Amino acid sequence: MGGLSKKGYQIKKLRDEHQLPHLTVDGGGLLFKDTNLLPSRVEQAQITAEGIVQAYNIMGYDAVGIARQDLANGLDFFKNIVEQSKFTWLSANIVSKLTGKPVFTPSISRRIGEINTAIIGLTDDRQPSAITPDANMTIEPWQNILPTLVHNLSRESDFIVLLSSLTLKQNIEIANKFPAINLIITSEPNNSAMKPRLENNTLLCSSAKQGKYFGWLQIKWGTSGKWEHASSELMVEKKNSLDRINWQLKRLEKNQTPKEDDRYQGFIKMAEEVSKEISMLEKMAELEKPQGKTLSTYKNQYFPMQISSPDHEEVLKIVHETKRKINLAGKASSQKADTSVNKNILPEDFAYVGWLKCSTCHANQAKGWQDSRHAGAYMTLVRKGQQFDRSCIACHVTGIETGAESFALALPPTLQQVGCETCHGPGKKHSGNPKEFNMASPNESICLRCHQQEHDDSFDFAQDLEKLRCTH
Ligand code: HEC
Ligand code: HEC
Ligand code: HEC
Ligand code: HEC
Repeated sequence: MGGLSKKGYQIKKLRDEHQLPHLTVDGGGLLFKDTNLLPSRVEQAQITAEGIVQAYNIMGYDAVGIARQDLANGLDFFKNIVEQSKFTWLSANIVSKLTGKPVFTPSISRRIGEINTAIIGLTDDRQPSAITPDANMTIEPWQNILPTLVHNLSRESDFIVLLSSLTLKQNIEIANKFPAINLIITSEPNNSAMKPRLENNTLLCSSAKQGKYFGWLQIKWGTSGKWEHASSELMVEKKNSLDRINWQLKRLEKNQTPKEDDRYQGFIKMAEEVSKEISMLEKMAELEKPQGKTLSTYKNQYFPMQISSPDHEEVLKIVHETKRKINLAGKASSQKADTSVNKNILPEDFAYVGWLKCSTCHANQAKGWQDSRHAGAYMTLVRKGQQFDRSCIACHVTGIETGAESFALALPPTLQQVGCETCHGPGKKHSGNPKEFNMASPNESICLRCHQQEHDDSFDFAQDLEKLRCTH
């Protein structure tokens, strides 16, 4: 969610700067991170999904593919989302079991400058029943859908785009079977931002999971309907390498190295091989070039969504508003839920006691800890207005694992920090009888539960341990 306002800014900037006819699309999988929603997170996931759609509306998207995880909250919720969207959600292979017809829009057409473009959506067809348990629909394999669809669309389109949440392997197969599909944009979650690659006559591109990057692809579509192959790029590389080899040979000659010298012979051999490769590439390029027609080219760039990038003001408002709604919903549910957990009165069997208790015997350590950022971790969320946000709380309080967030929402103040017991383990027994029950010294794996890449990209156990002051 956080990156949306950055993306909004970047999209607007590119449109304003270049003033080119454009298409703004997404491979899909934007609503939810996973196909399984934790029951304790459903309400907040819904609010987030609606916020994302509002942001995409503002950013002026044309179409988004439907991925499995977009359906994670059920068909009714998704249909509601489709209603709220100003862009089109595409899937050609989610079909009704009764009629065999697509349940959602299979494809749309857009005129981009002079180019008639068709955009198709395909949904990952692994385990269709896992996503659509009670609905009268199923996810068909692409093999059953694409032949007719591509055949029909290619009659009226100059350019066909596929938004796909299939695997890379399947996308490559599609590229080889359907040269009429010119561009495949994937949202396959295992891919990080992938350099575009040509497969037969299809360009394959991906966007990274959960919008870490925004990809920009500038296409000059030629009259031949064919991509210029990377062979030209390779050719430049090979010619450069031949130059380098010839330079080495000249140098050896200058030094009057005898021709039978191993190095001399080695370079001669390399020069022959590279020359052979060059003439083969030249032949290929000649074959590829349709008579009197121009080939198509592309240029691509990925923009990382960094904290330091500027924001799109209107999208940023949506992001803030969504966070506020999530916090309010969390607060309401914390008041409803867990009546067993009254503030300040923990359940009998709860093994944590809170930092104040520890401080009675370990005053020095407590003093050191109070000066650390761990002691203010919950206040950080309060300042952000996100202390009831279920996706934040588990790492900013003590004694809670992911999945028990509703409990976390009702913790007493002495556990509303990254307290002693996050690192040393629950301390009720030890506090009652320190001689019999000892406390553990934390290892790296404890820190990594929270200091994950996504929240702390520079964690270094030895160095970060130094900053803690328990041993003072
Ligand atoms: C009633 C006093 C008391 C309370 C309360 C108490 N401790 Fe201790 N703690 C001790 C004593 C005494 C020792 C030394 C035990 C020993 O050496 O056998 C100790 C040892 C430790 C050690 C060192 C273990 C080691 O082997 O180096 C840690 C860590 C520790 N306590 C953490 C905590 C934490 C965290 C809390 C709160 C949950 C806590 N203590 C509460 C008295 C207390
Ligand atoms: C329960 C989650 C959690 C665990 C476990 C945890 N941390 Fe943290 N840590 C945090 C949070 C949250 C912050 C930021 C608090 C804030 O600023 O609001 C933080 C901040 C820090 C900081 C301050 C960062 C800075 O640059 O000043 C250091 C250092 C640190 N942690 C080290 C560790 C080490 C070492 C461990 C393991 C021994 C550890 N943490 C275990 C959640 C955790
Ligand atoms: C997986 C654990 C985890 C989750 C979940 C988590 N955080 Fe944190 N957070 C951390 C850690 C670790 C740090 C300390 C990072 C560092 O060392 O700078 C931190 C630091 C922070 C900081 C201080 C960062 C700074 O640059 O000053 C803020 C603000 C914050 N988190 C807010 C949130 C919010 C809001 C959420 C929920 C949307 C959240 N966190 C969810 C682990 C987490
Ligand atoms: C972020 C993790 C973390 C938190 C939070 C934390 N500690 Fe520690 N504590 C450690 C680590 C790591 C060590 C071992 C230090 C070392 O080996 O250098 C330690 C050591 C100790 C020791 C043994 C002291 C000694 O001199 O050997 C005591 C006692 C202790 N902590 C008590 C506490 C108390 C009390 C709190 C809360 C007020 C607390 N710790 C909070 C990580 C933590």
